[in-house]
Amino acid sequence: MPAISASAPGKVILFGEHAVVYGRPAIAVPVTQVKAKAIVTANPRGAPGEVRVQAPNVGLVSTLEELDASDPLAAAIQAVASSLKVKRIPACTVKITSTIPVAAGMGSGAAVSVAVIRALSAFLGHPLPDEKVSALAYEVEKIHHGTPSGIDNAVITYARPVYFVKGKPIETLEVGRTFTLVIGDTGVASPTAAAVGEVRKAWQAEKSQYEAYFESVGAITQSARLAVESGGIELLGPLMDANHGVLRKIGVSCAELDALVVAARRAGAWGAKLSGGGRGGNMIALVPPSRSEEVAKALQVAGAVRTIVAEIK
Ligand code: MEV
Repeated sequence: MPAISASAPGKVILFGEHAVVYGRPAIAVPVTQVKAKAIVTANPRGAPGEVRVQAPNVGLVSTLEELDASDPLAAAIQAVASSLKVKRIPACTVKITSTIPVAAGMGSGAAVSVAVIRALSAFLGHPLPDEKVSALAYEVEKIHHGTPSGIDNAVITYARPVYFVKGKPIETLEVGRTFTLVIGDTGVASPTAAAVGEVRKAWQAEKSQYEAYFESVGAITQSARLAVESGGIELLGPLMDANHGVLRKIGVSCAELDALVVAARRAGAWGAKLSGGGRGGNMIALVPPSRSEEVAKALQVAGAVRTIVAEIK
């Protein structure tokens, strides 16, 4: 049996992170320059039911049995088996590789889940439809994220720009005019679950204040949706700046992110903001296409450990 592989892109949140956990809308786009890949190969001579799991990026060589049930890889594999009502997976190796930075707000966890779910369900003879892939990846997200909104698994599964409201059907967005982002990585690892947990504590302590922050992020996101769809790209920059301002008040920015945001604006970006959980990880800048290299350089000078230029269509 030939090896079966599947891959899934990274993502950035354009507008609405954190507020989306509290029912407000958010917009996210796939980033295809980075991806997670899963390859499933049959082991005809393997012990019946033995699933080997390899993730060389993180030095993992194990069997499914040895992994804790809460391990995200084990959870993704088990989710596929139980969804397809497969009692014993034929002996195989599931190998995962990824170029998506970890704990950086680019959806590495969700992308690994989506790639594994797709490759394994195809290996078992029943490739799952996108809706099911996204739903299973969401179940895995809940194990290691606590209270995820579901936006990461949605944008990564559909690999299209999405407008997302928790619990509502996913809406893919038509981009009226292509625009260019420069993504800058602070290099500060910041697991999303921790940032989401801190925001929850702050929200519990000051509910009306935080609800007001989320409400204003929601309004910014609504305006951004209109701008994205109508091709009014020049409106997006100031909206990003405004969103970053509220995220700072919410308490999820940090000195490194602020430095990159300022450097991007000085180098000619139309707007910039942190993206994802914050407290580290990545920021994004909306740039005139002709200035993408200058902005990327300015970000590196200001401390970015890596930059990606992405065209959003
Ligand atoms: C993570 O990409 C975005 C957050 O809003 C968390 C979530 O939506 O689950 C910070």
